[in-house]
Amino acid sequence: MKILITGATHGMGRGVARALAAHPQTELVLLGRSEQLLRETAAELSQCAAPERVRVIRCDLAKMRDVRAALAELRDLSALDAVFVNAGIGYAPRHEKTEDGLDAHFQVNYLSQFMLTLNLLEQLEASKQGGRVVFNAPAFGEVRWDDLQLDKDWDYELAIGQAMVAKRMFAARLHDLYAARGEPRVSCFSYEIAKTVWTNQLNVIPRPMRLMATVMKAFGRFISVDECGDIMAPLFLEGREESAKKSGRLLTTKGGELLDREKNPEVLDAAARKRLWDVSLALCGDEATARAAQRLTAPPAALAPAP
Ligand SMILES: NC(=O)c1ccc[n+]([C@@H]2O[C@H](COP(=O)([O-])OP(=O)(O)OC[C@H]3O[C@@H](n4cnc5c(N)ncnc54)[C@H](OP(=O)(O)O)[C@@H]3O)[C@@H](O)[C@H]2O)c1
Repeated sequence: MKILITGATHGMGRGVARALAAHPQTELVLLGRSEQLLRETAAELSQCAAPERVRVIRCDLAKMRDVRAALAELRDLSALDAVFVNAGIGYAPRHEKTEDGLDAHFQVNYLSQFMLTLNLLEQLEASKQGGRVVFNAPAFGEVRWDDLQLDKDWDYELAIGQAMVAKRMFAARLHDLYAARGEPRVSCFSYEIAKTVWTNQLNVIPRPMRLMATVMKAFGRFISVDECGDIMAPLFLEGREESAKKSGRLLTTKGGELLDREKNPEVLDAAARKRLWDVSLALCGDEATARAAQRLTAPPAALAPAP
């Protein structure tokens, strides 16, 4: 399985990368914004994975030009089996705008990965194991249609929540489009980890929040990134049929059972999903991304048969 992980240099992405590296049949492509952290992560993984099984791609998701450059590098992968849409900013002390003029959470946590994923779908369709896109997206948040870039009203929780809903709407829309063709060639689903994960976020939040988290940790409210990796790794390794059954859903695991979690009316509304899709394409303003989207929305005959 060849698996691309965004945000592989810390936190849940790194935990999932470690768990997957322990499986000899995996090849990992790690995407991160820091050359040095990517080197360190690859070196750590090389303790259980041969160096040729781990490739790194530097890409700052706060920059559309970096996403385009990463896609040019990724073009030489003839097939890709999975993408983990995971990278994200969590706590932020103030409202940051990117060089593209967008809310940083919206762009990093959602829009850049919308663009990345759309441009990788043909490679995922070529997967012999059944291509899949797994979105790291818990069940909260809302979309501010009249203020998507949160210029009027911002706080970091609002910004994270909006990006989470956007990711879930994108996952569900991708599923709709594949399902309309009768066969989901690429499974697209969201997964919420049932317990909060002790990640690098705990190093960047303000001290009072960190103290509160430390107390909660003592009461068993957190799991480690390695525990998270062990829970999530099977989503990337399971067979095509198992993966296809999850497509279009937001799932979590409780008491060993998979449960559906989606209750957000907008994620459940096909018209709202299409609306966000159209807005997102316009914001990307990228011809290749527009073509990738058109290929999916065109009549079924336009989708070339899978090899
Ligand atoms: N922790 C939880 O319990 C939990 C639960 C559900 C969902 N989530 C979500 O899971 C995702 C990962 O969060 P985490 O808790 O694992 O946080 P984390 O430890 O801070 O890891 C975030 C990852 O995203 C990367 N990243 C951030 N900004 C980036 C950018 N501009 N370009 C490329 N990569 C970037 C980080 O890179 P660096 O290593 O360079 O910082 C890091 O690898 C987030 O979307 C978060 O909202 C977390």
